[in-house]
Amino acid sequence: MLIQEYFQTRSEILEKALDSYLAPSDEYPSQLHEAMRYSIFSGGKRLRPILFFATYEMLIGRKNVNRLERLLPAACALELVHAASLIHDDLPSIDNSSERRGMPSCHVKFGEATAIMAGDALLTKAIEVLTDIKNIKVALACIQLLTRAISTRGMIGGQAVDILSAKKKININTLRYIHLKKTGSLLQAAVELACIIYDAEENVSITLGNFALNLGLAYQIVDDILDEVGSFEVLGKEPGEDSRNYKATYPSLIGLETSKKTAEKLLRDSYNMIKNMKNNDILIEFVNMIKERLP
Ligand code: IPE
Ligand code: IPE
Ligand code: MG
Ligand code: MG
Ligand code: MG
Repeated sequence: MLIQEYFQTRSEILEKALDSYLAPSDEYPSQLHEAMRYSIFSGGKRLRPILFFATYEMLIGRKNVNRLERLLPAACALELVHAASLIHDDLPSIDNSSERRGMPSCHVKFGEATAIMAGDALLTKAIEVLTDIKNIKVALACIQLLTRAISTRGMIGGQAVDILSAKKKININTLRYIHLKKTGSLLQAAVELACIIYDAEENVSITLGNFALNLGLAYQIVDDILDEVGSFEVLGKEPGEDSRNYKATYPSLIGLETSKKTAEKLLRDSYNMIKNMKNNDILIEFVNMIKERLP
């Protein structure tokens, strides 16, 4: 199956489920509901839920979009967390980004207070949605896994060190920590959620978790590179933001060329981690897709 078709069909069922989980935008308090919908339905690539679907479909060994119903709570939860993280990431006190996906960022459109609360509400919605998983043991395991991935030892920890490291000289290991945590954690959670729901053996879950964590690091390095030399079309915002914010990034620390080589090496490693698995075609396409983002 072509990766475009895979994304298209899986995105469609995801959009419907997200729509059903979110309050209508005219429901009181409507400004808040509108801001939440604005951030969810503004053209995100849906990488995390689709990586989750792809992992699950690889594990069961067949692709059937009509059999993914029971995966929708976890798929939606991943995208809700991601959208929340981007709203907060763009805030004036964090990255101060006025554009996201080629449009005004949430706080520019709705004001800072509403943006903060829209992020809070999306994040808690993610956990609420996970309680829809029918098997209570599985639901609890998913909640534990996702909340740990978001936590101070996961995504939020990475975001915190990212902010504290601006305008500072940090070493490459600290930057690696930032990227693994702020971006890798949620990708890792996406594949590990699939492993929980499939009830995969621990060795499979560890391999796939490491694959996704590594992929997340590569993805963030590519994002850093694009912020220096990418276009508005690819980034959805004007490039050059990281250097304006004196952010520690891979290019600022080790230069553009070495950053590209590092990303390519990580992508090769990611490929090697899954190359012997059966039905791995869509996961391999994920690796290729990230490689193709490199300028
Ligand atoms: C953006 O993530 C934030 C990073 C981790 C670099 P995505 O590139 O997945 O954002 P959308 O959802 O497709 O806009
Ligand atoms: C974002 O990293 C990571 C998270 C939101 C967790 P960036 O700050 O580099 O992402 P962009 O460039 O704003 O999309
Ligand atoms: Mg940021
Ligand atoms: Mg940012
Ligand atoms: Mg960036």
